[in-house]
Amino acid sequence: MYQPKKLLGAAEIRRRVKELASRISTDYAGVDELLMIGVLRGCYIFMADLSRRLNIPRRIDFIAVSSYEERTVSSGAVRLVLDARSDVQDKHVLIVDDIVDSGHTLHYLVNLFQARNPASLKTCAFLRKPGRLQVSVQLDYLGFDIPDVWVVGYGLDCADRFRALPYIGQVDPDRLSG
Ligand code: IMP
Ligand code: MG
Repeated sequence: MYQPKKLLGAAEIRRRVKELASRISTDYAGVDELLMIGVLRGCYIFMADLSRRLNIPRRIDFIAVSSYEERTVSSGAVRLVLDARSDVQDKHVLIVDDIVDSGHTLHYLVNLFQARNPASLKTCAFLRKPGRLQVSVQLDYLGFDIPDVWVVGYGLDCADRFRALPYIGQVDPDRLSG
């Protein structure tokens, strides 16, 4: 069976998520409540781990967007598939995404939520591919920068495969298709 090549191991991921959670907890100390909005589906494991490590009051909500339509190159056109249920007005909002690639998704989401008048708006992504950014985006918390390769595991997929891998692995999408 095809095995993704390991880029980030489970222990390294755990350590980094713990660091991010402690920074976020410090930054939001004293705030009544943090509203974390996860970007489905890739965020689900990162969101679960990160939210459980925070020691501040927080709520969890999700949003789903689509831009790749089963391909591995962003079309640039982001579509809202499922909106958050929460009213974000006057709330401290943190968007939690799995990975920033072209930047189109996060750019779209920042604009979307900014227009809803939150008390504050920040962004957090587990991974970023700096070599692929097409639009500049505000990124307040980042787990790791990675090279320009397709990665899977820890919630991330390739055509819906490999999401449950406990590590971040690299795949060659061409070898997987068909
Ligand atoms: P962007 O809009 O191009 O920044 O893409 C962001 C979204 O594309 C991410 O939230 C992921 O869902 C998906 N994505 C981009 N690169 C990868 C990857 O290497 N593996 C899995 N999903 C990816
Ligand atoms: Mg995503």
